[in-house]
Amino acid sequence: MKKEIDLIDSYKLLHPRPVVLICAKGKGEKVNVMSCSWITPVSDDPPVIAISLWKEGYTHTLIDETGEFTVNIPSSKLLEQVWVAGVKSGSKVDKIKLLKLNLVASDTVNVPRIEECLGTLECKVKNRIEIGEQILYIAEVKKALADKTYFKKDIWTDEAEVLLHCAGKTFSIPKLIKNKS
Ligand SMILES: Cc1cc2nc3c(=O)[nH]c(=O)nc-3n(C[C@H](O)[C@H](O)[C@H](O)COP(=O)(O)O)c2cc1C
Repeated sequence: MKKEIDLIDSYKLLHPRPVVLICAKGKGEKVNVMSCSWITPVSDDPPVIAISLWKEGYTHTLIDETGEFTVNIPSSKLLEQVWVAGVKSGSKVDKIKLLKLNLVASDTVNVPRIEECLGTLECKVKNRIEIGEQILYIAEVKKALADKTYFKKDIWTDEAEVLLHCAGKTFSIPKLIKNKS
């Protein structure tokens, strides 16, 4: 028996999904970090992804200034930081300091990556589309890095404990299964 879901909640059927930490930096020196689970690959050649950011947030104002951001992939070890980066705004607090995250210079963009994360995509915005309360950024990936201990044969291992967001304060981690045929 299926139950009907309110349309405003229908996106929840597409969770759990990976949550990432987006780093952005405006024209000033301040770097901000926010949690984002509305992220998807769009094309592999060229390598393009999309992220959907709330208009009331701070991060999109920084991305609009420079057209650059980094996507940082956290493990479950960063659960607390992911939660705080997703409930506090960089317009009010320096989340990088608060969360004690270490930043490392990127190679292709002027926005750093987060040392503690499992991997990073360095991205440059190609298109920006406003949809309802969100802004969809379509961006080309200029460089991709992954921790070789945890990314093997093109797959994040179980030990990586890549963090997935279910809803609210509930998260999960994936478990690999193989098709036998
Ligand atoms: C697990 C998680 C995932 C989130 N995913 C998104 C998202 O995909 N897009 C978005 O706009 N906000 C998302 N948020 C909410 C933002 O992270 C939150 O509004 C944050 O305070 C914005 O920070 P900023 O104002 O510094 O940009 C998420 C929050 C959490 C906890």
